Amino acid sequence: KRLESRPRPDGFQAIGTVAELEPFPGTIQVQVDSTPVIAIRHPSQPEVLVALNPTCPHAGCKVDWQKDNSKFVCPCHGSEFDPSGKVIRGPAARNLIAYPAKAENQSILVKL
Ligand code: FES
Repeated sequence: KRLESRPRPDGFQAIGTVAELEPFPGTIQVQVDSTPVIAIRHPSQPEVLVALNPTCPHAGCKVDWQKDNSKFVCPCHGSEFDPSGKVIRGPAARNLIAYPAKAENQSILVKL
């Protein structure tokens, strides 16, 4: 899904609905202007919304969310990231970029 960037005055913008994150732990994947965003509920803290840029810091491939393993995995060279985007296995040396995220009136909002 592609969105144009139309943030509210507080900088947050809607990327989808709460319902899109069901069945738990579902994902929302969008492209806001040129920025890819993937949002999930944290598997062990479902009240926490996580919004990440899925671009792998190693060489720029897009990581995939593996819900059965509760981690993001890069298809190119196998880097792995925990549900908050923290690198847990190289060759990536940095975490995924995370954005503030929240739910409001059934919408999922992120601040890019
Ligand atoms: Fe992701 Fe190399 S681009 S591990």
